[in-house]
Amino acid sequence: MTDQWWKQAVVYQIYPRSFADADGDGVGDLRGIIGHLDYLAGLGVDVLWLSPIYPSPQDDNGYDISDYQNVEPLFGSLETFDELLAGVHERGLKLVMDLVVNHSSDEHPWFVESRSSIDNPKRDWYWWRPARAGMEPGTPGAEPTNWGSAFGGPAWEYDEKTGAYYLHLFSKKQPDLNWENPEVREAVYAMMRWWLDRGVDGFRMDVINMISKDPALPDGKLPTGRAYADGSASYIDGPRIHEFLHEMHGEVFQGRTSLLTVGEMPGVTVDEAIRYTDPVREEVDMVFQFDHVWADRGPDPWLLMPLQLTMLKAIFGRWQAGLAEVGWNSLYWNNHDQPRVVSRFGDDGAYRVESAKMLGTVLHLHRGTPYVYQGEELGMTNAPFRSIEDFRDIEALGQYADAVTKEGRSPEEVLTVLRANGRDNARTPMQWDASPQAGFTTGTPWLAVNPNHTEINAAAAVADPNSVYHHYRKLAELRHTEPAVVAGDFTMLLPNDERLYAFTRRLDRTELLVIGNFSAETVRAEIDDAAAWAAAELVLTNTAAPSDELTLGPWQAVVYRRVLSW
Ligand code: GLC
Repeated sequence: MTDQWWKQAVVYQIYPRSFADADGDGVGDLRGIIGHLDYLAGLGVDVLWLSPIYPSPQDDNGYDISDYQNVEPLFGSLETFDELLAGVHERGLKLVMDLVVNHSSDEHPWFVESRSSIDNPKRDWYWWRPARAGMEPGTPGAEPTNWGSAFGGPAWEYDEKTGAYYLHLFSKKQPDLNWENPEVREAVYAMMRWWLDRGVDGFRMDVINMISKDPALPDGKLPTGRAYADGSASYIDGPRIHEFLHEMHGEVFQGRTSLLTVGEMPGVTVDEAIRYTDPVREEVDMVFQFDHVWADRGPDPWLLMPLQLTMLKAIFGRWQAGLAEVGWNSLYWNNHDQPRVVSRFGDDGAYRVESAKMLGTVLHLHRGTPYVYQGEELGMTNAPFRSIEDFRDIEALGQYADAVTKEGRSPEEVLTVLRANGRDNARTPMQWDASPQAGFTTGTPWLAVNPNHTEINAAAAVADPNSVYHHYRKLAELRHTEPAVVAGDFTMLLPNDERLYAFTRRLDRTELLVIGNFSAETVRAEIDDAAAWAAAELVLTNTAAPSDELTLGPWQAVVYRRVLSW
């Protein structure tokens, strides 16, 4: 409970496939990461989180794991991994692994055994069910429930060999593990201990609030116009989830110190998050909630919704207040599943640099542990995908197929949304320099580099003291040096303002005021005490200092500090 070092830490996420390719095969690798450790140390982050590097058929780019205790040959070997880990630790950083145990790959030996016969000892390690009563197995609509999978199509795959269906909430190559079975849990815990014994510093747990399912597996409600129902009521924050995470804590983390655990939890509520992150309950240190990245998505996934800043602020405000006394927030705009924030909530044209810095400032100064996704520190943007052929992501391809062929949407309508929201926006190669493949590879990259790498790249950013990179470096530094950033109370200001995002943080006598302008207009912040604040110390801004009292230029951000006199 006392070992909460991660409250002061900044985490940097690496998507190994797209980070740096040292061997020229077009896919990033561990040696590529090793080659850039000084760049990451220079940014001032404390922890690296690696998206999955385990052996995998790569159906979902490594989130389909066929061996939990080895390294995918595309990325390197266990020896290279140990070298990477040593290099990380030598620089005073920590390394957190991705833990993907809601499902394995269908090529994992566990599943190969499970599907081999109904009396195999591992049969019950996955979710097998017969066809719907009265239906011919393997025919459309005979699936045990009406649930859709996240990547299109039904959540069930028929397996002829044993005449039964297995559950896959994601692709059919990602069968869901059955956590009801204690042997599954023991195998997962043993694997986690093996990585910790090797020296890793914690885990980011993939869709971990889905591991406990209601074993009744009831049908979900079918929304009009959609091909499949949403079954999430049966598996989001399911009946035994807290029991499982507490058990994992006892079996894996007990007696070990200086770790970081973060659970990815789509659909998690504030009340549940309090339970997940209350230190005395011994579950996880923090969770990734999704409310703010769903703020610009409506019930119809194929309709783009503009961001309403007031809604975004209401969401963050609720999470800040909810976890103020008990628990802890994680803070993120980007990861490998989200479009680039500067294109999404900022202006990736004329005000790209300003808006990228403003977004970083507002996020990092909330209470919680901030996460930076590779390239975010450069202000990398969404990519110019021309047609569906330009996409590689199984989610984009699967959802496109359902929407166009099963739901009768027009390809253009669907493409417009994928261009804005598709996960491949985050996965284009890291832009290291202005050379033809952005310094990512000497070969042909697995996903095209963004043509704007000639302007937006790490070499240029490191050399330019006014770059987004150096602004992110200052944000990390501010967290390390100003205790109010880590531990201060949070108070939202101007909740009804559609252009300004403003709040204060206060610890003892130190108070910070943070304001970000989410617009290209010049806006005056009408807050109490404006004159006094304008005279306070300007700790950080992203453009020239405001000339008039708290009047912010286009996409400007300001951070003021004052020390109260009592
Ligand atoms: C998580 C991952 C995502 C993956 C999915 C299935 O949401 O972040 O990339 O596709 O889980 O593992």
